Amino acid sequence: MASYRIRQYRDQDYDAVRTLFARGILEHAPAGYRYVLRSARAKLELLVLFVVVRAAAGYWVVGLGAVALALVATWLLVRSFSTSYVQQALSTDLHDIPASYLRAPDSCFWVAEAEGAVVGMVAVAPTQDLAERGMALELKRMSVSKDYRGQGISKALCGEVLRFARARGYRAVVLSTSMVQVAAQRLYEGQGFRKVGTFSPSLLGSLLCFQVFHYRCDLPGRTTAPPH
Ligand SMILES: CC(C)(COP(=O)(O)OP(=O)(O)OC[C@H]1O[C@@H](n2cnc3c(N)ncnc32)[C@H](O)[C@@H]1OP(=O)(O)O)[C@@H](O)C(=O)NCCC(=O)NCCS
Repeated sequence: MASYRIRQYRDQDYDAVRTLFARGILEHAPAGYRYVLRSARAKLELLVLFVVVRAAAGYWVVGLGAVALALVATWLLVRSFSTSYVQQALSTDLHDIPASYLRAPDSCFWVAEAEGAVVGMVAVAPTQDLAERGMALELKRMSVSKDYRGQGISKALCGEVLRFARARGYRAVVLSTSMVQVAAQRLYEGQGFRKVGTFSPSLLGSLLCFQVFHYRCDLPGRTTAPPH
């Protein structure tokens, strides 16, 4: 097991951090695809497609071809869902990390470094949820390189975020993760987060039965909003 240290983000981490983030999201596309196909709605839609096309064309093989095309189209949709999420993050907060997280108030960005390389990352920033403004921070962009998983790195990164929020007098840390990020769900539940909501992020998301889970970890201590 390689030793690692957690430190604040530096400019030279830019490419490593963006690559680590993109890989951590894109690796879930196959699981997302399997999840969509396992849903009762997708199975029913494929069956209806097969029956309708077979009846219209009069050939089994044409019905099967339509189902095969629908499977390919679904994969491309799921994949584009992941890539557009990555592109959106890379062109917004991960475009200028110091401005987004180091110079912004109540925000920070840490990396885990092992053997001279960035192998983990996490960010924290004030939540965008207006009802929680001043009360909760949001944990974002958690990712650990595949070769360094299972060594407690994400737990250590999560610990940094919780300590940071507590030190600033926040009452909670919130985050979002998806239904296919099972390791992340276990990680957060083990760190004191509880699931407080589920939603579909977009029309395409609901068509694909894609669900986002909201998690919240209440922090003991203050009962009033921190000063700004
Ligand atoms: C989720 C992720 C960050 C975990 O990183 P990690 O450094 O391997 O996690 P740790 O070694 O610190 O383990 C912490 C806990 O996570 C859970 N966990 C980690 N890997 C798991 C797996 N493969 N299956 C189920 N639970 C898992 C366990 O509860 C574990 O606690 P335990 O060791 O006491 O059982 C990592 O798998 C990852 O980067 N995934 C891709 C990106 C991603 O999904 N990020 C989350 C964005 S919300």
